Amino acid sequence: MAKKPSRHFVCRACGAVYPKWAGQCEACGEWNTLVEEAVEPLAASSPRASGKGRRVKLEGLEGMAAPPPRTQTGIIELDRVLGGGLVPASVVLVGGDPGIGKSTLLLQAACRLAGKGERVLYISGEEAVDQIRLRALRLGVGTAALDLAASINVMDIVATLEAEPDVKAVVIDSIQTMWLETVESAPGTVSQVRACAFELIRLAKRRGFSLILVGHVTKEGALAGPRVLEHMVDAVMYFEGDRGHQFRILRAAKNRFGATDEIGVFAMTDRGLEEVSNPSALFLAERRGNIAGSAVFAGLEGTRPVLLEVQALLSPKSGDGAPRRAVVGWDSGRLSMLLAVLETRCGLKLSGMDVYLNVAGGLKVAEPAADLAVAAALISAASGVPTSSGEVYFGEVGLSGEIRQVAQADARLKEAAKLGFDHAVLPRRVARGSARSKPPEGLALREIGHLSDMIS
Ligand code: TYD
Ligand code: MG
Repeated sequence: MAKKPSRHFVCRACGAVYPKWAGQCEACGEWNTLVEEAVEPLAASSPRASGKGRRVKLEGLEGMAAPPPRTQTGIIELDRVLGGGLVPASVVLVGGDPGIGKSTLLLQAACRLAGKGERVLYISGEEAVDQIRLRALRLGVGTAALDLAASINVMDIVATLEAEPDVKAVVIDSIQTMWLETVESAPGTVSQVRACAFELIRLAKRRGFSLILVGHVTKEGALAGPRVLEHMVDAVMYFEGDRGHQFRILRAAKNRFGATDEIGVFAMTDRGLEEVSNPSALFLAERRGNIAGSAVFAGLEGTRPVLLEVQALLSPKSGDGAPRRAVVGWDSGRLSMLLAVLETRCGLKLSGMDVYLNVAGGLKVAEPAADLAVAAALISAASGVPTSSGEVYFGEVGLSGEIRQVAQADARLKEAAKLGFDHAVLPRRVARGSARSKPPEGLALREIGHLSDMIS
């Protein structure tokens, strides 16, 4: 029998294993993510090693199928993304860039939960207990009955949790600092991260507490990313945002107990993360009316309507070569397509111009429904005529300049009316089966079929 190699190469981003090094991971397409690691031997207790197994019980489809009980953390934005609260014996992975606010969010959630009389443990491998105390003080939650520990040794943590019978939830901050002595590699490597997570998850399932793992997303460096754990946990949430901006978005990427299209919106303040129950008002707070090149987009984030300001700036081409196309918060390929449509189908001359496009507030928009608002901002910038300050836009633009239907028009209109907008520009209704309910009070609709209708 051929001798098994003692070392192999593992992708830090997705965990794929290769016998040889390569510049790019074939599984996830990331570059320079393969690192050499020791091959971990199969555990002695594995069934293959002992050759014996027990019969498992087979059951029918019929029977009790109650929805899982939930423990609400009391942070509504977090509970919404979780699908209604924490599920006992489930594991949630919260990923995000370093410094984005993961520890802050989870410390706040843990304190809130502890304040409701639940037994909650917050175990940090990154900060000393005193540091966490200081942070809690600053967050105004310094008196919560939370149990803190600073440890990176998973066996110690398991032993501690075994001796604590009534624990409801455990936060591990972060999984990349955890260490299992039976695994040869250093903390943060794919094999350590997986092995540590496996031990903790097994314990959570057996003891019935909710486990929350923090995982740093790392583009560079030698840490294994949260993606290597995605298949092992019940729910994966990413905490996103721009460090230059105040607000943060919690987004579910996987949820065995709820929908994945919900988002939670928070603002990072000097007293920690505040819930934002009305994100549109936050995103539009700094908008100044009567400026050419600005248009308000009625968008959707998950199932939630959100109004955003799209800003465009045109300036005569500087220097030789191709004109500049700079985009923040939107897809640059989509901008090129819209510029071509505006030029070819609507006769707007833009090729001699540098174009700058920005979604104000730092949010990233992925919906094609934003086309019409972007077009409105571009047309307004080109003509120097501001869009009306009470107007919102949504609709997808096709290559011939036609305006196409988008999902959830009613929800978008309702949000616009709620924020005091009085006009909406949207795709023309197609005849069959698209009965739109009456527009909300105070909102006039302008339905258009072609982009050139906006210019006239
Ligand atoms: P943190 O939760 O430590 O990030 P992570 O755990 O994701 O690495 O948050 C760090 C940042 O948040 C830090 O740069 C400072 C900022 N912050 C505030 O603005 N206000 C606060 O009350 C706290 C606790 C942190
Ligand atoms: Mg942290």
